[in-house]
Amino acid sequence: MNKKITIAIDGFSSTGKSTLAKQLANHLGYIYVDTGAMYRAVTLFAMQNGYINAESFDKQTLITSLPNIKLQFKFNADLGFGEMYLNGVNVETEIRTIEVSSFVSKVAEVSEVRAKLVEQQKEMGKDKAIVMDGRDIGTVVFPDAELKIFMTASATTRAQRRYDELVAKGDAVTFEEVLKNVEERDYIDTHRKDSPLVMAEDAMEIDNSHLNRKEQFDLVLELVNEITKTI
Ligand code: DC
Repeated sequence: MNKKITIAIDGFSSTGKSTLAKQLANHLGYIYVDTGAMYRAVTLFAMQNGYINAESFDKQTLITSLPNIKLQFKFNADLGFGEMYLNGVNVETEIRTIEVSSFVSKVAEVSEVRAKLVEQQKEMGKDKAIVMDGRDIGTVVFPDAELKIFMTASATTRAQRRYDELVAKGDAVTFEEVLKNVEERDYIDTHRKDSPLVMAEDAMEIDNSHLNRKEQFDLVLELVNEITKTI
């Protein structure tokens, strides 16, 4: 039987990391963890409690409140992945709004937030057989992952994908607004002091601007098969 491995998928926002990660996890029977959902849920908590808004961010109070934040993924068999629960409430839809997207990078800059979430992520992956996507998975969470993928695509390609998703859900957004958000998040994610988004030295870079979902999946599955054969 093939050995179980750890698959780390990092990259810029809206590069389709979660699509690929879900495909792989379903095919391999692995656990899938969307770490962006965890940062988004902490952001939603900060918004609900008035710690962050367009004018201000009370970082210190959020840090003090971290022990009151309980995050869980509960598997939804119909969807085929774990939905995000914040203190027992399903927040899967709420964490995907443009408001949450506009604050999440600021929350993700806070080292205390990162430390709490990274600890939980390491625990989820201790038995391997996991596909985790985020920004620091191959560099910080699982530096020893057997397979590391770093996904890129042009900012306009990514904004178009995110715009189509939001419009399909009925969100009233403009393409310019989404593009601005994608570019701002790229900037903050790559420039923050703690665990900036960088490609791990041993990661395989995939630019999927011109790859469809199937082509991308087949490419990565081939890598998985090569690795599991040799370990
Ligand atoms: O993958 P996403 O777009 O849902 O992630 C939301 C934000 O969370 C992203 O802008 C940066 C942050 N993030 C992070 O800092 N580290 C991770 N491992 C995952 C996400």
